[in-house]
Amino acid sequence: MGLNRPDPHFDWALDGTGHDRSQTAYRLIVRHGETTVWDSGKVASEQTQQIAYAGHALVSDRYYAWSVMVWDESDEASDWAETQYFRTGLMQPEDWHASWIARYFVLPVGREAPNDNLYDNRWQARPADHLRRDFSSRTKPVRATVYVTALGLYELHLNGERVGEDVMAPGWTDYHQRVEYQSHDVTALIAAGDNTIGAMLGEGWYSGRVGHNQRRAGNHYGGRPALLCQLHLEYADGRIERIVTDESWTTSQGPVCYSDFLMGELYDARLELDGWAEPGFDASRWQPVEVFSPDPRPPRLEASRAPQVREIVRFPGRVLHRAKTGGYIYDLGQNIAGYCELQLSGKAGDRFTLRHGEMLDGEGELYVANLRHAVATDHYIARGEGRERFKPRFTFHGFHYVELTLPEGISPESVSLTGIAIHNDLKLTGAMRTGSPMVNQLISNIEWSQRDNFLSVPTDCPQRDERYGWSADAQVFWKTAGYVMDVSAFLEKWFEDIAEAQLPDGAFTDVAPSKPLNPYRLTAQPGAPGWGDAPVILAWQHWLRYGDRALIEKHYDRLVAWLKHIADANPDHLRINAVYNNYGDWLSIGPASDRTMVATAYWVHVVDLMARLSDVIGRTDMVAHYVAQAEAVRAAFMKAFVDADGRITGDTQTAYLLALDFSILPPELDARAGQHLLRKLDEADGHLQTGFLGVKHLCPVLSDIGASTRAYDLLFNETYPSWGFSIVQGATTIWERWDGWTEDRGFQSVNMNSFNHYAYGAVGEWLYARVAGIDWDEAAPGYSTICMRPQFDRRLGWVEARYDAPTGRIESQWRIEGDVVTWTIAVPPNCRAAITLPSAPLTLVAGDRPLPVAGKDFALGSGRYTISLSI
Ligand code: BGC
Repeated sequence: MGLNRPDPHFDWALDGTGHDRSQTAYRLIVRHGETTVWDSGKVASEQTQQIAYAGHALVSDRYYAWSVMVWDESDEASDWAETQYFRTGLMQPEDWHASWIARYFVLPVGREAPNDNLYDNRWQARPADHLRRDFSSRTKPVRATVYVTALGLYELHLNGERVGEDVMAPGWTDYHQRVEYQSHDVTALIAAGDNTIGAMLGEGWYSGRVGHNQRRAGNHYGGRPALLCQLHLEYADGRIERIVTDESWTTSQGPVCYSDFLMGELYDARLELDGWAEPGFDASRWQPVEVFSPDPRPPRLEASRAPQVREIVRFPGRVLHRAKTGGYIYDLGQNIAGYCELQLSGKAGDRFTLRHGEMLDGEGELYVANLRHAVATDHYIARGEGRERFKPRFTFHGFHYVELTLPEGISPESVSLTGIAIHNDLKLTGAMRTGSPMVNQLISNIEWSQRDNFLSVPTDCPQRDERYGWSADAQVFWKTAGYVMDVSAFLEKWFEDIAEAQLPDGAFTDVAPSKPLNPYRLTAQPGAPGWGDAPVILAWQHWLRYGDRALIEKHYDRLVAWLKHIADANPDHLRINAVYNNYGDWLSIGPASDRTMVATAYWVHVVDLMARLSDVIGRTDMVAHYVAQAEAVRAAFMKAFVDADGRITGDTQTAYLLALDFSILPPELDARAGQHLLRKLDEADGHLQTGFLGVKHLCPVLSDIGASTRAYDLLFNETYPSWGFSIVQGATTIWERWDGWTEDRGFQSVNMNSFNHYAYGAVGEWLYARVAGIDWDEAAPGYSTICMRPQFDRRLGWVEARYDAPTGRIESQWRIEGDVVTWTIAVPPNCRAAITLPSAPLTLVAGDRPLPVAGKDFALGSGRYTISLSI
């Protein structure tokens, strides 16, 4: 619904029985009604992904139908695939006829001039606005479509029904530059005759409190939320009538006394406006709206690229005990981002208060010190009529436990409390289970930290006064994230935020959108090594997973500008500290890695990737430039940090991990560096010491150097510091710090201690890619070749994994019995598996047909296979 691209890309996945099936040609047709707008004809091609539209120009506000047929390896044609539809949005600025509207600005007491555009950042409780207008429809329209967005958050209603299921829409962008709109088919909601359209507006990222700067906590983009909405009624005779936001709308305040991400919500049900979005409502006392010009200029309107945030999973709360405060402590069984729904009965004016926290302290009290300034408290004031239901609208919290304070005379038995997890509604693409309950919990914790932090942008954490799109966190986790969910559209959206935050001198920023983090500066600070580098790494990963050149082409010049920014500032090819923020290997434990070494290693890496990205999009002129630059930085790295024995300055686990995974050392030193890495593990008694930047490489590098057993040792560790340690403590998400809580010290400093940060969940990529053996192949992006190098381990016993790659479903299951491992795989049609095993198989069966076995390296076409080998 609502597509803005003139050249949408088409993908399909193939289905087929048997083995070695492939596509040799396709034909794709796009129609509008009876008219064919594009017929590709029979195209001889194996490609099933990223086929760019090349028909007549698409027209705004229309449905298009498309289908595809393919020819297989013996030139046998398939049927046409089931018809799929897409609808274009308002593709041109002139398609918009609506105006931004908002309540009139009310001067705070004691203020002389309106300061709408001066961004008074002190937070004040402000009620949510209701806006409405009646309209009539001559007859029932054959089609009704609404295009809607807000500066702030909106909830749209038509004739008393809520439109769509999105929450926190339109999501976070730099509202001074761009805002995304959503499109909904509302044909079913429009009646012949009288109709009413209405919206509620919340503050959200636009004017509410965002981030940790308490003196300038809110109003980052403006002082009051505004709505933009355009409804198209399409009649049988082809006429289109438009209902738009303009001065004919009226506004009022209602039951939402305030609703803010960090504060929470106060909802007074006695102030409800019954039937406010239905015809016949008496709005005579409502105020006119102001047609409003966004400051400093109206933002660009773009159709939202990714599915919006929605309510995804519900967790019934279970009462644990009564807290000292008198409230009741509820356990959801899972740390989530979202809010609660309450069902209750009470007297008019009864107050129900919900406080949210991730942990309980030693006494069983709600632990909220780590939320910093996030108050995370919702209040519901009852209306006193029958069974009432409450859930807040324009706030969310990160929590596992809730403390519910009830009015006098109400017992928890009469109340039902349910936690609702919200996140971008991306398709879940991966699933994995193993013979180890602890590892299964780790897999779940990784998935949940991703769910809880995929909230319009990939955030660091959902609970405290932070919740920014921190780029290194995302970069180290992205390969994992791409197994768990289809992250393609989500990244395309975030890349726009990253691009808009880029500084005039080419520097990428640490967070995107960047405004609330640097409220005092005119411009944000340049990103730190590993942080500012993230866009290059993300573009490369996006290419490998989805085979999508378009994102690279679109943002290539920005990546070039970043590389130039680094090179200009570091003429000696060492990435010296002073120029940037430099967080080093953030939150590592044990000896710290040298920051200039880490920074320079990252520099080698991103220059290497730029050479490859340049090659992918045919910028051969730049390939040689980056290859030469990479050599120069490598040489500087070697000279400054590596001795003849392959020992690297600082002698930390991360030093060897980066050098090995980024291929920095000359081949003859790789083996030495590998030995140093193993020595560092021994010195730490077999424990990890890596921070955000090192952790991603830990298990993959150990597998690469033939030390998978050591990677498994880390996986199974349950003593501090390890993933298992947090799980023994009951974690249901990934902790920000290895020492978030320890036996001797208890909770870490309240200044920075989230229990829901996905960075250390970066081990997920090793679980999918090396334990299950479902990896991408750098030479064949988009999973047309699957690189399968499973690492078997007796302690794990068995694995069952699947991944819905862009090319289709890949499966891998192995089980060890006695001295034999039996491995079953499914390779989708049109794909091949490049297999590397620890030893040559004993048997290899395709379906039920035994195949001859050669060595331990071989390739297979599509189909199901069972392979056995000794272990
Ligand atoms: C955030 C991190 C981020 C870091 C950068 C923290 O406050 O929570 O996840 O990457 O700052 O230093």
